[in-house]
Amino acid sequence: MKKISGSKYITTALIACSCATAFFFSNGCVESKKVAAKSGVELWADNCQRCHNTPSPTTFSVEQWKTIGMHMQTRALLTNNERDKIVAFLQAGARN
Ligand code: HEC
Repeated sequence: MKKISGSKYITTALIACSCATAFFFSNGCVESKKVAAKSGVELWADNCQRCHNTPSPTTFSVEQWKTIGMHMQTRALLTNNERDKIVAFLQAGARN
C-alpha cells in the first residue's frame, strides 16, 4: 500500500512538471494568445485568401457582409470572435 501511494505521488509530480514545462515552452499557448490578439484586418488577410482571392471590403454591402461572414465562418472554421472582427473590418469599408 505504501508503495502504491508513493508512485501515485511521483506520477502526480511528473504530470504537474510536464504541464508546467508545456506552459512555459510550448508555442501552442503563445500562439493562441497571438491569434486572439489579431485584428480583423489581420484575420481577414490570414484566412480569406486560403481558398479564393481576398474580396475587397467595397465588393459588398454591410448586410451582405453579415451573411457572408456567417457563410464563410463555416468554410474557414473561424470562432465567433474571429468572424465578428473580420465582418466589422469588412463592414467598415463596405459599399452602400
Ligand atoms: C475553406 C475555404 C474558404 C475559406 C477559408 C473562405 N472561403 Fe469564401 N468561399 C469559399 C467557397 C467554396 C465559396 C463558394 C460558395 C460556396 O460554395 O460556399 C466562397 C465564396 C465566398 C464569397 C462569395 C459570396 C458567398 O457567400 O458565397 C465571398 C464574398 C467569400 N467567400 C468571402 C470570404 C471571406 C471574407 C473569408 C474569410 C473570413 C472567406 N471567404 C474564407 C471557400 C472559402
